[in-house]
Amino acid sequence: MQNLNANNITQAVLDSLASTSDPRLKEIMSSLVRHLHDFAREVNLTEAEWFKGIEFLTACGHMTDDKRQEFILLSDVLGLSMLTVALNNDKPAGCTEATVFGPFHVESAPEYALGDNIANGAKGVPCHVSGTVRGLSGEPVAGAVLDVWQSDDEGLYDVQHPGIDHAQARGVLRADATGRFHFRSILAVPYQVPHDGPVGQMLEATGRHPWRPAHLHFMIQAPGYETLITHVFRDRSAYLDSDVVFGVRESLVCDWTEQPDGSYAMAFDFVLNPLPSAPKGAGAA
Ligand code: BEZ
Ligand code: FE
Repeated sequence: MQNLNANNITQAVLDSLASTSDPRLKEIMSSLVRHLHDFAREVNLTEAEWFKGIEFLTACGHMTDDKRQEFILLSDVLGLSMLTVALNNDKPAGCTEATVFGPFHVESAPEYALGDNIANGAKGVPCHVSGTVRGLSGEPVAGAVLDVWQSDDEGLYDVQHPGIDHAQARGVLRADATGRFHFRSILAVPYQVPHDGPVGQMLEATGRHPWRPAHLHFMIQAPGYETLITHVFRDRSAYLDSDVVFGVRESLVCDWTEQPDGSYAMAFDFVLNPLPSAPKGAGAA
């Protein structure tokens, strides 16, 4: 017979996981149980408080659909997304750093030729974007695929506009044979993450603002290199010091310069991390 109390219940739950066949699942579940129980003991969690917590998680579930992911947002504002990025992207010095993916990437964005305007009707100050994609030894990554996305001058992504059913301010381009890329878009501005749901209430209750500094998202893929998911941030943007999702890295901040005609230009060179090459003879029969 089990006779459990606040001191021995943790071990009982850990014991119940003993026959988990997947060792990694067992490790993760055991650690989660230990930390959750320690958390409850540390704050002396009341039943009413835990019920509030369950109501909060339920509200996150109700808010989530194929366009809105409240749980990713929760992970982002708690710094958990950025922590997992940091834990899993320990690249050699010289490689471009990674940052959070965010919830606004769309699969199969339209493909554009170098020099095209990816704004496709999105409103904003025109901005010319250029740069190179290189490997760690400085070699050009010919044909690197750049998936780019950003918000408009209202701080909204196309998918957040109820009336817009086509891609705006997002697109896929290929670097040329020398690793160079260039395209036109609009100037990124600071924006608020969606905060009309339970995560927004949590931010408000904890005295936090919902803003992100101005940035442009990039996902860069090329055979033989690690996929890079990152942003380029606009120098002197508001909120560089208090990004609500903790995604800023100094190395990703660059100057977006105003041109005589009032448009902007931004240039950024990316460095990809080569994948370890397969040992000779691997896969040979
Ligand atoms: C974004 O940069 O698109 C983003 C990241 C985290 C939460 C919300 C938005
Ligand atoms: Fe963003």
